[in-house]
Parts: sequence; C-alpha cells; structure tokens
Amino acid sequence: MSNDLHAEARAIAASLREVVAELADEGVDALDIPQIETAATAPPSAPEVQTRQQQPVAPTPASPAAPAAPTTETPPSVPRTLDAVREELGDCRRCGLCEGRREIVFGSGNPNADLMFIGEGPGEQEDIQGLPFVGRAGELLTQMIEKGIQIPRDDVYICNIVKCRPPKNRNPLPDEVSACKPFLDGQIDAVKPKVIISLGKPAAGLLLGREVAITRMRGTWHTYRGIPLMPTLHPAFVLRQYTPENRRSVWEDLKAAVEKSRS
Ligand code: URA
Repeated sequence: MSNDLHAEARAIAASLREVVAELADEGVDALDIPQIETAATAPPSAPEVQTRQQQPVAPTPASPAAPAAPTTETPPSVPRTLDAVREELGDCRRCGLCEGRREIVFGSGNPNADLMFIGEGPGEQEDIQGLPFVGRAGELLTQMIEKGIQIPRDDVYICNIVKCRPPKNRNPLPDEVSACKPFLDGQIDAVKPKVIISLGKPAAGLLLGREVAITRMRGTWHTYRGIPLMPTLHPAFVLRQYTPENRRSVWEDLKAAVEKSRS
C-alpha cells in the first residue's frame, strides 16, 4: 500500500472511531448493518452465521426512558386539519394514561405557526387546565418565546408527545407514545411548521427514535417528517439548573430556529 493510501486509511479509521465513540456516548451499543454478500465473502459452502439482524428479538419490558421505535412514525397522508385530528382523538382511551388524566392536553397556538414546540407530556397544571406548558416550566417557556425570541406565544404552536399526564410526571412508556404518535404526526402535518423545537431529552429521543445525550446534541439540526428539528433543553431542566450556560444554550437554539424558519 502506498504512503498516501496508508494515510487515507488511518484518517478513515480515526473518523470511524470518533463516530463510534459519539454513538456509544448516546447509548447506541450496536448497529443493524445489512450484510453485503460478495462471491469472496460468501462462498456457497460457507456455514450459516446468525447476524444480530437475524436473531429473534425478545420482547423487552416497557421502560420509562426507552424511546419509541422510529417505525411508529405514521406515513404522511392527506393532511387533516387540527380540528379533524382533535375530533379523531375524541375522548381517547387508547392507552392506560386515560385512567388517571383529568383533561386531554391536545395543544395550543397558531394552527399555521412557523415554529412548533414539542414537550414530552402534560404535568399537573396542564392536566387541570387542559393546556400545554401552563405550569412553572410553561412560564419559563413563555418568557423564552416572548422575551427571548420576541414572538407572541399565540403565534407558535405548542404540544406534547403524549396528550395525557403520566402518573407522577414519569416519562411516557413506549406503548403510550405509540398510541399518541398518529395524533402528534397529524398535528405536525396539519400545522406544517417550518421548524420543530423539541424540549428535553425524552421528546428529542422519542422523535428521533433513539436514546440521545441532550446536552451534547442540543443545538444541532435533525429532521422529523422532513421538517428541520432543533432539540433544546427542557425549561423544567433549565429551572432546576438555572445557570447562565443553560440559559445561553436555549437562547442560541431558539435564535437558530427562528433564523432557519425565516430563511
Ligand atoms: N412539561 C412538558 O413536557 N409538557 C408540558 O406541557 C408541561 C411540562
């Protein structure tokens, strides 16, 4: 191998190591890579080897932090209006969250908003009032929107991954997320925002279908249903750790989101 090729191979290996380290940091411990068979790698007499992809997947018990599989994303269909999506949701009893809820918290704001904020699920105040982000975290979110990026709260659209309050504000379970996902996707298709801003680790993880390290990946662009997605910190987290750094991070993420929505 020439020196040039050696150097190139070393550079490729180094960047692969970086990618693997980053994925490990985000909790990914294996990748499903389709097996590519060539005449050289798969002689007809080769013994059968079970790859990870071929192994039967044992059902895992639901865990609060586990993100939903990306396959739960409903395909874009003829967009319904927000009212039609709300009507279809009805007096929902599709998952266990209906047992403890007071109000369904569908969403609020401008049905044609450029910016859509998505949190994980209603808290106590939201459950009482039937509106998203109206408790303490909601007050901070409203300030970030109205004082920070100087947009009236009513001009953006705000909703959550799940529409009913999880008991004791725990993270939503995968089956609860799956039951609500068609309605979240319906809201996104109806509003057609220019940018989605997810609030906190569970919301980012659930939209991206994988575990995420929010403090590392906030401020970076992703897409959901073809729409630019900016994950940022949850206002409740910022309230708990009210540091200049956290406030600056959210401010920068929101500024970037507004810029993108106007470009
Ligand atoms: N936290 C959320 O994620 N959503 C709300 O609506 C309120 C608090």
